[in-house]
Amino acid sequence: MGKYVHGTDAAEQERLRKLNELTNPPFLKFLHLSPHDHVLEVGSGLGILASQAAEIAAHGRVVGVEYSMQQLAEVNVGRPNLEFIRGDAHSLPFADNTFDVVYCRYLLEHVSDAQSVVCEMYRVLKPGGRVCVQENDIAVFQLYPDCPVWGELWTKFGEVQEKLGGDAYVGRKLLTLFRSGGFGRVELSLHPEFHYAGMETFELWIRNALLILETSGPDLVAHGFATPEQLKTARVEIEKFLTLPDAASYFYWNRAEARK
Ligand SMILES: C[S@@+](CC[C@H](N)C(=O)[O-])C[C@H]1O[C@@H](n2cnc3c(N)ncnc32)[C@H](O)[C@@H]1O
Repeated sequence: MGKYVHGTDAAEQERLRKLNELTNPPFLKFLHLSPHDHVLEVGSGLGILASQAAEIAAHGRVVGVEYSMQQLAEVNVGRPNLEFIRGDAHSLPFADNTFDVVYCRYLLEHVSDAQSVVCEMYRVLKPGGRVCVQENDIAVFQLYPDCPVWGELWTKFGEVQEKLGGDAYVGRKLLTLFRSGGFGRVELSLHPEFHYAGMETFELWIRNALLILETSGPDLVAHGFATPEQLKTARVEIEKFLTLPDAASYFYWNRAEARK
């Protein structure tokens, strides 16, 4: 298994919590769960999203699979229809045809073999069940006005993630992954993230991006992709960007939904 590029220290877990605050409501809409659904989240992290899914599938059951003990230790189960299991997405610990809905979010970029994970999601899904995925493609992240050093390191971040066994551009590959994974009709969509000066979400979104870079800082330096000075300059650029009255950022998540 590849190394998880963001790690699981307290600052990173706090970043993930905040990212959940921002991105869970639209993702739950995209999932459109029913009260009796039997649901699996693959790579459930801190379990925040799975817990909200369990509120909606109130008469069903939600299971989160996660391989990191550190993430599992932070999970607040708190609901009778929710459980978390330690396991690897490449080899899900469930029988064929078990779940009505299987989803993952921000996972495929981190696994060493995204295709085998999608095949596993297909295997554990009941016939007629749905798979929903939301993933990342770092190439579509834009800032204006430009932050040149930050931008250069952002691209390097993609390279280091690849070196560690992941894929920072996996979002654009969802159609291939789903079709090769056995799904017939696949629906692709994009979910936009526009955050600009004056919006309540602006600082949260930009600091999330900065933390992504900074949590991978030691790997960027260790693999020769960045110097500590460049990382400092990137931070200065972003701090300045945050004070600009006309600063804007543009991004979208890649989504795919398909039935078995
Ligand atoms: C960015 S977090 C996303 C967590 C959650 N899905 C969310 O949206 O908040 C990615 C999670 O996937 C987990 N992960 C990475 N590779 C995995 C694998 N092969 N099997 C299970 N979990 C994995 C990591 O430990 C991490 O908790």
